[in-house]
Amino acid sequence: MMRLAVLVSGGGSNMQSIIDSTKTGILKGLAQVVLVISNNPNAYALKRAKNENIKSVCVERKNFNDEKSFNNTMLEELKNADVGIVCLAGYMRMIGHEIIKTYHGRVLNIHPALLPKFGGKGMYGHRVHEAVVKAKEPKSGATVHFVEEEYDTGEVIIQQEVEVSEADTSQDVAKKVLAVEHQVYPKAIKKVIDFRLNN
Ligand code: GRF
Repeated sequence: MMRLAVLVSGGGSNMQSIIDSTKTGILKGLAQVVLVISNNPNAYALKRAKNENIKSVCVERKNFNDEKSFNNTMLEELKNADVGIVCLAGYMRMIGHEIIKTYHGRVLNIHPALLPKFGGKGMYGHRVHEAVVKAKEPKSGATVHFVEEEYDTGEVIIQQEVEVSEADTSQDVAKKVLAVEHQVYPKAIKKVIDFRLNN
């Protein structure tokens, strides 16, 4: 059973879809979420974790003197929970070098666009969908990728597209993409688990 950590900062709907998938979906019997880490004490995702009786911790950067001690605490939490795959789900900080090194090839992130388009530093949330609408793109979608040292640059694991019509506002696109995110993240996790089991 693959032990998952989910790192969050906000609403946690992607985290919820992963949890649901381990209970009744394609991850049932394959994976379980054993730890939720938030950098935001007010993240609704923490309430979701509590409702699911999943261990959650809040690790706030402001409580540490430097980046290294912050990252080491994150790493300790992951190691103590014997985590096998780290899933970023709306986590709004860049993951520290120590974590990427320790969990190389096992840190996943979801981005609400078809990378490499509309990605990179500063491209998150509504900004992504506004850029897609402004560019009159005929489609958008969600990408799950491996996390490297630079934002949104890791190898793509899976992508799922949505149609964008000229009438769509950025809010319409955001809604369509979020629905697809909830489908594609569990699929990506399963793909990584299957690959690791068979290689
Ligand atoms: C999602 O749109 C995801 O693509 C982005 O942040 C948002 C997280 O939403 N990285 P939620 O917290 O999972 O509801």
